[in-house]
Amino acid sequence: PDEIKRVSVAVIKRLPKYYECLGNLLKNNVERVSSQELSKILGFTASQIRQDLNNFGEFGQQGYGYNVQQLYLEISKILGLDTVHKMVLIGAGNLGQALVNYGEFRTHGFDIVAVFDTNPALIGRKINNVPIYSTEEIEYFIKENEIDIAVMTVPKGEAEKVAGILEKTRIRGIWNFTPVEIKLENEDILIENVHLIDSLFTLSYRINENKLQKRLLKQKRKIFP
Ligand code: NAI
Repeated sequence: PDEIKRVSVAVIKRLPKYYECLGNLLKNNVERVSSQELSKILGFTASQIRQDLNNFGEFGQQGYGYNVQQLYLEISKILGLDTVHKMVLIGAGNLGQALVNYGEFRTHGFDIVAVFDTNPALIGRKINNVPIYSTEEIEYFIKENEIDIAVMTVPKGEAEKVAGILEKTRIRGIWNFTPVEIKLENEDILIENVHLIDSLFTLSYRINENKLQKRLLKQKRKIFP
């Protein structure tokens, strides 16, 4: 059988940027766009853009560029945004509640249909119209409702336990916000970790960058005066 060609993570991480950019062009009634024009907007080189998109098929035409609407639809399919993903969220604390209250996920077809928590004071209540159930019902609920994705926002000490429960279901992916690196025996369940702190460190690096460059320059001058 033909082996599935794996696309590199770096390419996958750029896809949402293409999607967002094409969405904006579409809103502005732009019909076609060249890789050079995309390059100016996105800051990746035109050849990088052509290479990235070639991973998924031949969308562009020499001398014409890309049809914005067509490429937008193709990328939305590639990202799986043309279907609704049913999700549950486990751990209705500070972060969990904020995520359930964020409406933009649903706009893109990511629908949080239930929340689970161990705290009796929360069970039976609703967040943003989404019911909170006892964690004892996780397995049953996921099976009955064909849930795709579980969002994990429990305290770090509970992460392994919750992952163990999820492993017994046919969930497709875990969006893991806990700082725990989850290891599952079931390799069919994909895990995507979110570390907001990485983004903060990146910002901090950029704030520091000028100082850093000056220091490096000074060092170089000392070595090669
Ligand atoms: P929190 O303490 O406000 O909320 C945790 C919730 O989980 C509580 O409602 C608690 O009752 C519930 N819970 C405890 N054990 C449970 C279990 N076994 N099953 C289901 N629910 C359970 O905590 P917060 O601030 O919302 O943080 C949640 C997690 O997110 C932590 O692991 C934290 O480290 C992580 N976090 C990650 C960030 C990131 O960038 N990835 C940013 C902020 C927090």
